[in-house]
Amino acid sequence: MKRVVILISGGGSNMVRLAESMVGDHPARPVLVGANDPTAGGLEKAASMGIETFSVDHRPFGKDRAGFEAQLALHLDKAEPDIIALAGFMRILTPDFVRRYAGRMLNIHPSLLPKYPGLHTHARAIAAGDAEAGATVHEVTADLDAGPILGQARVPILPDDDADRLAARVLTQEHMLYPAVLRRFAADNRSPLYM
Ligand code: GAR
Repeated sequence: MKRVVILISGGGSNMVRLAESMVGDHPARPVLVGANDPTAGGLEKAASMGIETFSVDHRPFGKDRAGFEAQLALHLDKAEPDIIALAGFMRILTPDFVRRYAGRMLNIHPSLLPKYPGLHTHARAIAAGDAEAGATVHEVTADLDAGPILGQARVPILPDDDADRLAARVLTQEHMLYPAVLRRFAADNRSPLYM
């Protein structure tokens, strides 16, 4: 059984879908959910699913990213993860941290990468007049939102969309895409899945 740690920053709807998917003949199980914000709503959801949780508040560390990551790594390493799934985890990770978990870390990003790395992806897609938006699951490498693509789901952008409406449509797809990609990844299949 592969051991999966999920990192979140907020409500954790993707985390819940990932955790719910890891049952039966799934090759992985969720062993730990962590957040960089002790008030992240997803922590309670994980606990209510019987998953161990932790938080390391990034704020006291200020600009000391390495200090924050050292605490994060203590929790991660204790859990002996085979896979680390970032699910709405909104901290940029240093190259050193990423290297430490190379080949084991996935992220979901709410755009059709390589388009729109970074923030405000939906507003940027609408402003550009794009016909489509979506989400990408990728391996995490030292370059922000630029690691090998493991899966992608597309949705149309509709004429009266605003960023919130589009985000909701994309999130529905994220909830199907991420569990499907995680399952393949846990079975050592890294070929991209297009939905
Ligand atoms: C998701 O839309 C995810 O793609 C996005 O944050 C949301 C988290 O929602 N991630 C990023 O923007 C990463 N840069 P959730 O907490 O309900 O899963």
